[in-house]
Amino acid sequence: MNSFWIAICFLQISQTVKCQEDDGPYKGKYLGKINSYHHQVAGDVYVIDEYSILLSSFVYDGNGADTFFWAGASNRPGPQGFIVPDEYGYTNVLERYLNKDFTLTLPDKKKITDIRWFAVYDIWSQNTFGDIYVPEEFEPPTIQNVGQLNGKKHNISSGDIQILDAKKIKLKHFEYDGKAKKAYFWVGVGPQPGPKGFKVPDENGYLEPIRAYKEETIILELPGDLTIFTIDWFSIYDHETHENLGSFIVPDGLNVPPSLVKIISHKNDLPNCLQLHKDFQVSWELFGPQVTIQLAGNIGDDEYMAFGISGSHTQSQMLNSDVTIAYIDGYRGFATDYNITALAPCVKVLGQYKGVCKDELVGGQDSNQIHTAVKENGIQIITYRRFLISPDNGDKEYVTDKPLFIIWALGKLDDKKEPAFHDKYPKTNISIEINPKEPTNNCYSFTRDETGKSNLTEIWEKGELDGKASRVFNAYLGPSGGRRAYQGITGQPSTSLAWYINGMLVPELWLRRGLTYAFKVYGGKNPHMAELYHPLIITDESHGGFDRLTDEAQSKIRVLAGIEYSRRGRPRPTAAGSLCIARHAENRDRRLDDDFPSFKKYNRSLVYTCEEGDPAVLEFTPNTSWPDTVYYNSFTQANMGWKIHVIDTFSSLSRSSASKQNGISLWFLLVSVVLLRYDDVM
Ligand SMILES: *[C@@H]1O[C@H](CO)[C@@H](O)[C@H](O)[C@H]1NC(C)=O
Ligand SMILES: *[C@@H]1O[C@H](CO)[C@@H](O)[C@H](O)[C@H]1NC(C)=O
Ligand SMILES: *[C@@H]1O[C@H](CO)[C@@H](O)[C@H](O)[C@H]1NC(C)=O
Ligand SMILES: *[C@@H]1O[C@H](CO)[C@@H](O)[C@H](O)[C@H]1NC(C)=O
Ligand SMILES: *[C@@H]1O[C@H](CO)[C@@H](O)[C@H](O)[C@H]1NC(C)=O
Ligand SMILES: *[C@@H]1O[C@H](CO)[C@@H](O)[C@H](O)[C@H]1NC(C)=O
Repeated sequence: MNSFWIAICFLQISQTVKCQEDDGPYKGKYLGKINSYHHQVAGDVYVIDEYSILLSSFVYDGNGADTFFWAGASNRPGPQGFIVPDEYGYTNVLERYLNKDFTLTLPDKKKITDIRWFAVYDIWSQNTFGDIYVPEEFEPPTIQNVGQLNGKKHNISSGDIQILDAKKIKLKHFEYDGKAKKAYFWVGVGPQPGPKGFKVPDENGYLEPIRAYKEETIILELPGDLTIFTIDWFSIYDHETHENLGSFIVPDGLNVPPSLVKIISHKNDLPNCLQLHKDFQVSWELFGPQVTIQLAGNIGDDEYMAFGISGSHTQSQMLNSDVTIAYIDGYRGFATDYNITALAPCVKVLGQYKGVCKDELVGGQDSNQIHTAVKENGIQIITYRRFLISPDNGDKEYVTDKPLFIIWALGKLDDKKEPAFHDKYPKTNISIEINPKEPTNNCYSFTRDETGKSNLTEIWEKGELDGKASRVFNAYLGPSGGRRAYQGITGQPSTSLAWYINGMLVPELWLRRGLTYAFKVYGGKNPHMAELYHPLIITDESHGGFDRLTDEAQSKIRVLAGIEYSRRGRPRPTAAGSLCIARHAENRDRRLDDDFPSFKKYNRSLVYTCEEGDPAVLEFTPNTSWPDTVYYNSFTQANMGWKIHVIDTFSSLSRSSASKQNGISLWFLLVSVVLLRYDDVM
C-alpha cells in the first residue's frame, strides 16, 4: 500500500516537472482535464495556490440557461455547492468561452482543499456540464521553506529562505558584511555552486557586487526566463576568489505557485549587449567611423534613459561626462546629446548654463542621429548613431582599442522634458569594449511585476505647518529622498535637493492674509555654485526654477516674493542666504532611501552642516491679491519646494487646539481626512 502511494507521488512530481518543461511556462500544479458531459465544456485545470485555480484552454458553448462555475464538498456535483465567481470576480450566468486561459479564486477565502469537486453546473436543470475532482490528499502549491544560509566567511547568514513562487526567493534576516569585492547573488545548474551561472539582480534590480546587509529581509527575482525549476542551486558567490560564500540546493519538483511576473522578450538587433540593470540594457555595433547604439528600458512614459561616456578615463563618473538622454514623447523618440558640467539640472550660473545641459545650449551641437524609437509591450527601444570622433570637440571619443568607462541612469522627466534626478544609477565602475574580438551579449528578457510591488511604496507622512503661533520659518536644504519622499509627497519629479522647512521635508504651510511672515533662508549664496545656490522665491506655479525659464515663460508667472528687477528689467533674487544643508552620511547609499519607514527615521540618518554667515530673511505679507495657493521654491532649480495655503482666517481650519511647543506644530495627514495631532517632535 505504502509503496503504491509513493509511486503515485513520484509520478505526479515528474509529471509536474514534465509539464513545465514541455508546455512552456509553469502554470501551477496540474489537477487534470475537465470531464466533459455537455455543451462542449473542456479544458485543463492547474492549481495556482491554496485559493486559486487556472483554467487553461477552457471551452464552453454558452448555451446553458442558468450555468455557473460551481464547487462543493459533497461527493459529486449537485445542488449543494456554491458559485465560484468568474475571472472578473462576477457571479453572472456564464457566457461562451473559446480556448481561454484565466484564473478563478474561490470565494470567502475558501481553500482548494475544502472542496471535493469543481464544475460547470446548471442550477436550473441541476445538470453538470463538466467537472473535475480534487484528490483526497491533494496539496496545493504554496510557499516552500528550503533552509537557511550559513556561510563561513563574511558573516553570511539568514533566517528561513522561502521560495515564494517559480521566480521569487525570499531571504529572511539576511546578513552579510559586504566585504567581498565581487560577490553576487548567483544561480546555476549542476551538483554545486561554481563560477558558471547567472547573476541574480539584487532586490532593487542592480547587477553590481552586493552591498552589506544587516538582518534585512529581501525578495529576489530570478532574471529573464529563469525559474526555480531551471536552476539547481543558489549561492552568494565571490568571483574574485571563486568561493561559494553561502548557498542552498533547490529541491526537485518544488510545489510552489507559478510566477505572476510577466516576461517580455525583446530581441536586440545589434551584436553586443550589456545588461546594465534589470530594467535597462544597451546594445551596440561599430559601423565604420560610427557606432550604432540601442537603449532598451522597461520604464514609464514619463521616464528617460541616460547612457554615455564617463567624465573620467579611469572610472565611471557623472561629472564631465558626455551622455545621451533618450525617451519617447508621444510618438516621437529623442536621443539628445547632453554634457554634464555640474551635478545639478541645467541652471544658469552668472549667465552661463551649467549642469546637465543639452550640448546645443552650451555652444556645442547635437551629435546623435536618431534612427528608430519604438515602444513594444511597455519597453522603450531607441536606436541612434554617432561618430566615434565627434565633429563637436566638446564631445568625448568612443575609443575602440581599449575598454571605455561609461555611465548610465534612469529617472523621471520634468515638466519641460528635461531629465530630473535619476532614480536608478550605478555605484561601480563599468566599462565596455566598443569593438570586441567576439561579440559579447549578456542580456536577457525584461520582466514586469504587474501584481503588487509596482504599487508605489507608501509615501512618508506629509508635514504641515501653520503660521498661527510662529511667523518665522527656517528654510534649509536637504536630500529629496526616494519615491516616498519629495516625489511621493508632491507628485512632481525631484531634483537632488529639496527645501526642509522647520526640519520637515517640503511641508505645506497655512498662512493668513494680512499677516507678515518671514523665511530665514539658508539656501546658499554663492552664485558660482551650480548645485548649491538657492535663493527662495514664492510664485503662483508649483515648479520654481524661475531663472532658467525663457522670458516668455517668466512673463506667465506671478512672483509674489523673492525677486526684484534690475534697471534693465532682469530678475534678481533677493533672498540668498548662507548655506545649511542636510546630507547623507558617508557610508549611506542614497539609492536605498525608500527603505526608511518614515521621514523621522530618515532625517536621523542625515548629517546637518551649516556654513558660517547669516541667513537671508525673506519677509512677505500675503494680501487679497494673492491666490489661495502659492508655492515656495528655488530661484535657480525647479521642483524643490511645495505649497503655501493662503487663508483668510485660522478658525476656518477648525483645528482643535493651538500649538504649544515653540510655536511649531507638526501636523501629519493620516489616511484620507483624519487629521491627527503630533506632539512629540522626536
Ligand atoms: C561577524 O559576526 C560576529 C559575531 O556574529 C561579530 O563579532 C563580528 O563583529 C561580525 N563581523 C562583521 C564584520 O560584521
Ligand atoms: C560640454 O559641451 C560644450 C559644447 O560642446 C563644450 O564646450 C564643453 O567643453 C563640454 N564640457 C565638458 C565637460 O565636456
Ligand atoms: C573605480 O575606479 C577608481 C579608479 O580605479 C577607484 O578609485 C574607485 O574606487 C572605483 N570605484 C568603485 C566603486 O569601485
Ligand atoms: C498594493 O496595494 C494593495 C491595495 O492598496 C494592497 O492590498 C497590497 O498589499 C499592496 N501591495 C504591496 C506589495 O504593497
Ligand atoms: C530633522 O533633524 C533636524 C536636525 O537634527 C531636527 O532639527 C529636526 O527637528 C528633525 N525633523 C524632524 C521632523 O524630526
Ligand atoms: C499685495 O502683494 C503683492 C505681492 O507681494 C504686492 O506686489 C502688492 O503691492 C500687494 N498689494 C497691496 C495692496 O499691498
